[in-house]
Amino acid sequence: MKLRKNFLWGGATAANQYEGGYMKDGKGLSIADVEKGSSHGVPREVHSNIQENEFYPSHEAVDFYHRYKEDIKLFAEMGFKCFRLSISWPRIFPKGDEKKPNEAGLAFYDKIFDELAKYNIEPIVTLSHYETPLHLVKEYGSWRNRKLISFFENYCQVVFERYKAKVQYWITFNEINETMNQKEPYHQAGILFTEGENHTDTILKASHNMLVASAKAVILGHKINPDFQIGCMLQYPMTYGKTCDPKDQLAKKLFMMPDFYYGDVMCKGYYTNTCTAQWKRMNGNLEVSPEDKRTLLEGKVDYISFSYYFSTVITLDSKGEPKVAEKNPYLSRTDWDWTIDPVGLRLSLNELYDRYQLPLFIVENGLGAVDQLNEEGKIIDTYRIDFLKKHIKELIKAVEIDHVDVIGYTTWGCIDIVSVGTGEMKKRYGFIYVDKDDDGRGSLDRKRKESFYWYKEVIATNGKNIK
Ligand code: BG6
Repeated sequence: MKLRKNFLWGGATAANQYEGGYMKDGKGLSIADVEKGSSHGVPREVHSNIQENEFYPSHEAVDFYHRYKEDIKLFAEMGFKCFRLSISWPRIFPKGDEKKPNEAGLAFYDKIFDELAKYNIEPIVTLSHYETPLHLVKEYGSWRNRKLISFFENYCQVVFERYKAKVQYWITFNEINETMNQKEPYHQAGILFTEGENHTDTILKASHNMLVASAKAVILGHKINPDFQIGCMLQYPMTYGKTCDPKDQLAKKLFMMPDFYYGDVMCKGYYTNTCTAQWKRMNGNLEVSPEDKRTLLEGKVDYISFSYYFSTVITLDSKGEPKVAEKNPYLSRTDWDWTIDPVGLRLSLNELYDRYQLPLFIVENGLGAVDQLNEEGKIIDTYRIDFLKKHIKELIKAVEIDHVDVIGYTTWGCIDIVSVGTGEMKKRYGFIYVDKDDDGRGSLDRKRKESFYWYKEVIATNGKNIK
């Protein structure tokens, strides 16, 4: 087996980290618009409203809203076959619960898709990437509330109809499995726990509502255009048991249960034994109505997209629950303390393909690093090239040696954008440098990094230049 001839090489972004224009043309606030920036290891502060004199990184981000032509031209220069972006839900439905969409918001994405089409770049569109309308959080309690399913369905109906001739690849929820790991403020399900709230109940309910919403989106999308390819999106944390002690291997299995929980429902169409065992582990339960069961089964996804950044070593704690063990002595780490594990990508591809037998799409991978301009004003990011080269090599092995079916590969933050974890700008992933710092200062000028030219060659040779 070889990489598909039409392998989708490209880059990925998300509206809240890239677009800016946070109040432009009728857009409403999303949960990302009230998150302040922070730094490594410090959770981002979340406000209930925008406060004067505070800096919110999403508000301008790196201004794709006004610079999309310039950026898409640069992507085309690299030879991108595809570009992953998300639609900002509150740009289309400012509050989220309206009946009628915001025409100016729809027109904005028309311009983007038309510009991409000019260069034959396939859009890969995430419907919800940490951008739930803030109004839905305040008025309805976000995904805790089943009403969000119909609001989401309405949003999908509108964008599917509008872009049915322009977009073929869709992703429902970014990293949906992060819902179970609701440590970070807001990000996934838009939930901040209240005092005394039963976390297990909330997480299981919110997850169920999102899973049903995703299945309904798949059903609806296929009705509107049978050629639509609609995928789920998982964060895939490659894990290793700490030793060959069987208990450490059990730790790996237990650690992965919450991740397979979402994958199983979206790919197999029902709550598997892994899911029901996970309810038990969490000391919770879920009543699933016959109607929801039918929806989940009918709304199975066409492919699996996933993010892969690092791997983790797992062992059992004294209560028999998995916990992250010490650092992996065989691997180096990034400045943000993420392990660098290219072989883990090959293993992840194998694990996911073995379990689900569905085409896979790596929609996020990359190195967040501090880039410095040299005396000539250039960014020679050989460390990024090295990181990506090693990962792409393993991706090719997964296809050619292990016969895993992979649709494409989009590096995360192909142009520098705001970090989700910290809101920083200095954690850069891009092939294109953006002049902006953590306090919002800078000209926003774009500059090609050394990796820009390298990736262009990767795409031009369909990966054959990777030695
Ligand atoms: C993924 C998210 O979890 O990781 C992206 O889907 C995010 O939105 C990416 O940006 C990298 O994380 P960070 O914290 O470096 O931005």
